[in-house]
Amino acid sequence: MMWMSSKALRLPDAVIGPGHDFAASVIEGLSRTRKSLPCRFFYDARGSALFEEITKLPEYYPTRTEIAILEAHAAEMAESVPERAVLVEFGSGSSRKTEILLKHVRDLAAYVPVDVSASALDDAKRRLLERFPALSVRPVVGDFSRTLAFPDDLIKAHKLGFFPGSTIGNFSPAAARRLLGAMRDMLSPEGRLIIGVDLKKDARALVRAYNDQDGVTAAFNLNLLARINRELDGFFALDCFRHEAIYDPREGRIEMHLVSIKDQAASVRGRWFRFLAGETIHTENSYKYTISQFQDLARSAGWLPGRVWRDAGNLFGVHELIACLKR
Ligand code: AVJ
Repeated sequence: MMWMSSKALRLPDAVIGPGHDFAASVIEGLSRTRKSLPCRFFYDARGSALFEEITKLPEYYPTRTEIAILEAHAAEMAESVPERAVLVEFGSGSSRKTEILLKHVRDLAAYVPVDVSASALDDAKRRLLERFPALSVRPVVGDFSRTLAFPDDLIKAHKLGFFPGSTIGNFSPAAARRLLGAMRDMLSPEGRLIIGVDLKKDARALVRAYNDQDGVTAAFNLNLLARINRELDGFFALDCFRHEAIYDPREGRIEMHLVSIKDQAASVRGRWFRFLAGETIHTENSYKYTISQFQDLARSAGWLPGRVWRDAGNLFGVHELIACLKR
């Protein structure tokens, strides 16, 4: 699929899946035999602030490790970017990591940050313009896995995609393949993607990263229920659920759950849901890949694996992917 200039470009249902707004998704997820909530709803203002705190925790290595990799290798990453290219970032948030790249790419036609939060995009744009006054910043408000409207005048430009943070790990391998394929189509022809992917490692180190001593990740997970209480007239007893993070080596993923600590009921917009003691709400998957596993996944989505940069401790990988001519 190519970028479209219409107000909003819809990605195919195969990519986005059904269920759009918060209320419908929550009710649908809690109605399942195995209850779940989509992790994209973590990031309200409170959740985003808690995630910022997570990124500074000693146990949570991905953010600082990826930043160190970007700082060490951004010049190489920027090397083959042609003049007047467009840098497109998926889920740009504060755009802090992008600054590291921007220092090294010359003559960009524009930087297009895509994010669901208009206020985050405004703040990022203001900050970037202080540092790079000549940069054309063209924010797009939207969910990169759902709908995107791309600036008309930039559709034909050469595009470099940037998708850091191992956000790809939140998608099942099948959904990740569809998303990578959609990104390949958006960035083509001759597109490239720089993507951060967390590496498989010792299970204890992984679990520690998602179950920190200070309980910040627990607060981040529980904020989902607090958000339901705030926004959906919910009735969840927050002290009757506890945070859990487990590593499933067969799936190669960290799972976060909210465990009901007793038999209880909770409500959302007047609908009641029963919980048995020990029953869980599955709130997030965070898949981990070896370098070659991720390269295989990328190949299956029409990308040619390029260079890979990683830290000395083998904690995190940043991959360069090149769009194949044929798919
Ligand atoms: C933002 C999706 C990369 O999976 O590591 C951090 C989210 N969840 N701690 C991750 C998260 C719990 C994070 N990503």
